[in-house]
Amino acid sequence: MEHISYKGLEFEPYIKNEEIQKEVKRVASEITRDCGNEKPLFLCVLNGAFIFAADLFRSVDFESEISFIRYKSYSGMSSTGEVKEVLGLTESIEGRTVIIVEDIVDTGLTATQLIESLKTKNPKQIKLATLLFKPDSSTCGLVPDYVCFNIPSKFIIGYGLDLDGLARNLPDIYILSKDNK
Ligand code: IMP
Repeated sequence: MEHISYKGLEFEPYIKNEEIQKEVKRVASEITRDCGNEKPLFLCVLNGAFIFAADLFRSVDFESEISFIRYKSYSGMSSTGEVKEVLGLTESIEGRTVIIVEDIVDTGLTATQLIESLKTKNPKQIKLATLLFKPDSSTCGLVPDYVCFNIPSKFIIGYGLDLDGLARNLPDIYILSKDNK
């Protein structure tokens, strides 16, 4: 993996796709253990989680469904602190197990707001699965149920994560380089 540059910023290799796939399989087996008999609804939070959700959903072999919701809180490399729902949930989740699939839990604002809004629809239970978790950035005390990788509070791109819409198609994950001025 080579250093890459987006919008004048340097990024260095961080997590290879093979490692990601290994952790996705681990999380899939934890979800199978906990929710395999629940016919859960996986709820992918667009845009960033679409690649993780596709790999995770294909790694479980019990009866389940997937749906999509869109939230937006980031502009450039930082959270705006304001979370907007751009595409809502259409299915009923009453009495169901819902597994939220996030790309990254940073401040935790997006996931906390989503969980609060889902709770008003009377699900049986809500679980949160995330590819990446920045424990030091969390401002809500939220701890995801399933985490592929805990990472430091640095900006990362690739495997669905973007810098202003770019870099989502990189198979591996890259981290903002220390060399940026
Ligand atoms: P939170 O509401 O602060 O937890 O942020 C959630 C959203 O911010 C994620 O779903 C991402 O879209 C975005 N985000 C947070 N950290 C990063 C990052 O390091 N790279 C790219 N997007 C990020």
